[in-house]
Amino acid sequence: MCVEATARNQGIPKAYWGPRCTGEEAGLSAFVEIREGDALETLRELDGPIDLLLNDGFPMLALDIVKLLAPRMRPGAVVITDNVRTFPGNYADYMAYMRSPESGFCTTLLPYKSGTGFSVRCAGEGA
Ligand SMILES: C[S@@+](CC[C@H](N)C(=O)[O-])C[C@H]1O[C@@H](n2cnc3c(N)ncnc32)[C@H](O)[C@@H]1O
Repeated sequence: MCVEATARNQGIPKAYWGPRCTGEEAGLSAFVEIREGDALETLRELDGPIDLLLNDGFPMLALDIVKLLAPRMRPGAVVITDNVRTFPGNYADYMAYMRSPESGFCTTLLPYKSGTGFSVRCAGEGA
């Protein structure tokens, strides 16, 4: 599933994942869903379990997104967060939370140029 809020960018996931790429004959369209709108709304009713979250919207929403979806992630689920090092101020609270035991995640920063947060949902408090 891909969610995009900004009308200007809503064609991008369609180009990647829409019928032109997946094609009915490839049989992939059944596995891809594109939702247009604010992720905090469009993902509210999403059924779990969630195995992988690419948390790559605006940095100031990253924490709200992960808190919304974490209850539907089972142990072993992965969260990838782009541009953590590019926007250290914006991601400070997010990374502090993701590294804290209360989050229920084990988190490290992968040493790619822009800094990629890599979190695994672990069992225990917060999980
Ligand atoms: C840094 S871009 C990354 C887009 C995509 N993951 C990529 O790598 O090309 C962030 C995108 O998140 C979208 N976005 C920001 N806030 C959002 C929200 N609340 N709900 C859905 N999409 C949002 C923006 O419009 C923008 O297109």
